[in-house]
Amino acid sequence: MTRHFLNLSDAGADAVSAMLNDAIDRKAARMGKPKGTADADAPLAGHTLAMIFEKNSTRTRVSFDMAMRQLGGSSLILDGGTSQLGRGETVADTARVLSRMCDAIMIRTDDHAKIEEMAAYATVPVINGLTDLSHPCQIMADLLTVIEHGLALPGSQWAWLGDGNNVLHSIIEAAGLLKFDVRIGVPEGYEPDPRFAAEAQQRGARIALSRDATEVARGADVVVTDTWISMGQAHAQEKLAAMMPYQVTQALMDLARPDARFLHCLPAHRGEEVVDAVIDGPRSLVWDEAENRIHAQKSVLLWALGLL
Ligand code: CP
Ligand code: NVA
Repeated sequence: MTRHFLNLSDAGADAVSAMLNDAIDRKAARMGKPKGTADADAPLAGHTLAMIFEKNSTRTRVSFDMAMRQLGGSSLILDGGTSQLGRGETVADTARVLSRMCDAIMIRTDDHAKIEEMAAYATVPVINGLTDLSHPCQIMADLLTVIEHGLALPGSQWAWLGDGNNVLHSIIEAAGLLKFDVRIGVPEGYEPDPRFAAEAQQRGARIALSRDATEVARGADVVVTDTWISMGQAHAQEKLAAMMPYQVTQALMDLARPDARFLHCLPAHRGEEVVDAVIDGPRSLVWDEAENRIHAQKSVLLWALGLL
C-alpha cells in the first residue's frame, strides 16, 4: 500500500510519534553541519520529490527542498501557471505521469478534493503541503517545536485564537491523536469544520469553542494563531473586524501560563492576528517552528517512503 500523508490520521498516532522521535534524533545528529549537506546515512540518495504549487509558498517550498537535500535526494518544482496542470491536464493524468518519473509528490492546492484525486491515481506517496482543508506538515513542525521546548503533549492545553481554518483543523486532528486539549476562540460564522472536533473528541481529546478570548487564553500551555485571511480568501473588512477581539496581545499572553509558548505558522500579519511584542517576545517560538519544517518533513518523507 502506498503511504500518502494527506492528513495526520493517514499516519495515525504511533507513526506520528515515530516521526517526531526520528526528527529529534536526525536534527541532533546533524547539528553544526552546513544546511545543504546530506545526513551521514543519506537515506533518500537517488530519490526525487516533485513539488506542485498552485498557491504561493516560502517555507513549504524551501523546507521540502532542503529536506530532500539533507536526506541525500533532490526535488523539482512545478507551478500551476507553467505546468500542463494549469492548462487543464487532469490531476489523475498528472499523478500517473509524475509517479513514473519521481519517487514522491508534494502538492499545495486550493481544493482538498484535488489532493485526494492525486492520491487515488499516484503510485508514489502524495504529501499535503497545504490545502483549503488542512496543513498537516505544519503541525508536525509545531509538535516538534513544543516538545523541544519541554512540553509534554498528553493533557496539555492549547489555545487557538482567530479564524477556524486549515491550520486549526490539523491541530485538532493532532489533539485527538496525541491526547491534548484545544480551546478555540473564534467569532461566529468562522468556526472550524465540526468533523475534525467530532473525530478528536471520539479519540478522547477535549475540544471547546468560546467567543471569549480571555477564557481561551487563561492557563494555556500553547497559544496559537494564524492569518485571518487565508490564501484565496477575499480581504473582507467585515471579517477583519470580527476577528479583532481575538488578536493575540501581550495582555492575552499574560493570561496564559508563565512558560506558555507562542506559535504561528507564518507568514504573519503583524498588527492583525498578533502584535509585535508577542511574536518578537521571549515566549515566541516562531523561528524554531519555521526551521522545524525541514526536520519534521524529513521524517514525513521517510515514513511515506516506507523507511520509518
Ligand atoms: N507556513 C507555511 O506553510 O508557509 P509558506 O506558505 O511560506 O509555505
Ligand atoms: N491559513 C493560511 C496558512 C498559510 C501557511 C493559508 O491557508 O493561507
